[in-house]
Amino acid sequence: MPTKAIEWLGDRVKILDQTRLPREEVYLELGHYQDIASAIVEMKIRGAPAIGILGAYGVALGALRIETASRGEFLDKLQVTTQTLLTTRPTAQNLFRAIDRMQQVAQTGRDVEQIKKALVDEAVKIHAEEAEATRRLSRLGAELIRDGFTILTHCNTGALATAGCGTALGVIKQAKEQGRKIKVLATETRPLLQGARLTVWELKKANIPVTLITDSMAGYFMRRGDVDCVIVGADRIASNGDTANKIGTYSLAVLARENDVPFYVAAPTTTIDLSLASGDEIIIEQRSPSEVTHIQEVSLAPEGTQAANPAFDVTPYRYITVIITERGIIKEPYIDGLKAIHGS
Ligand code: MRU
Repeated sequence: MPTKAIEWLGDRVKILDQTRLPREEVYLELGHYQDIASAIVEMKIRGAPAIGILGAYGVALGALRIETASRGEFLDKLQVTTQTLLTTRPTAQNLFRAIDRMQQVAQTGRDVEQIKKALVDEAVKIHAEEAEATRRLSRLGAELIRDGFTILTHCNTGALATAGCGTALGVIKQAKEQGRKIKVLATETRPLLQGARLTVWELKKANIPVTLITDSMAGYFMRRGDVDCVIVGADRIASNGDTANKIGTYSLAVLARENDVPFYVAAPTTTIDLSLASGDEIIIEQRSPSEVTHIQEVSLAPEGTQAANPAFDVTPYRYITVIITERGIIKEPYIDGLKAIHGS
């Protein structure tokens, strides 16, 4: 059974709660935009494309619950909904892109009932388009994966993270579906263990051999020649190709360069942010220190320990071999390639 991370039920959204995986498969039905905002902050749904899709459904739900016939009052109230959703996770570009689309639809609507319907339709469309983008980029990216490859991947970029078939993990699954024999090294991805909990869960379901390693073991395996390529997703790609992704990605990219291992980024075009000249301008989400001092509520460090918790880092474009999107595989100079495919 394919994993359905997010499902629209007409007047509410059903999500698979990723904080409970892999121990339990628990589905939640959310009927209010505030529940959607909390689910994103608490990472019940996470991964940039999935956050964007859920954010769009959040706007639709917010709209459906506004009771007024006045277009002006409706738009004022909808503004509160969009602002709440926009402040949930600052790095994921897909969230900003999706909510911007929803705001444009709201502004162009004639009357309240028509706008409500148009917003629901738009959210469903965003979901379908993002899912299709992951299918296409997975097919394109699979061409880079040769028979016998061992692929190192970081965080979770599969069906759970995209509500489609995945980005980096989509490429890996597609290569397997095309008959290539492959193996995966999955980093555990501290602090929240998306690799250990979610990527291994998805790969096991797909019958793809996977070995779990701690984040700090990546250099050991690359230096031994055990890794044929690294493939990761992205949360935001600046116009020069600098890429924000899960904390630890930058270290993997530097190790890959040092060891002559190709380093691939896979992302839909909705992750590209051409308004930013470079990755220096990407806002990095800072999360609670308790995610570092604790693992699933078990304290690891002495009481009162100070901890830092940047959720993402930026990999400079020069470490990236190619960027795989649904509209093509982009090489340096990224600034030209990204501009050419964005919005086309
Ligand atoms: O903090 P998360 O779990 O939302 O971070 C997810 C990632 O960094 C993914 O690599 C990225 O969103 C791409 S998912 C297809």
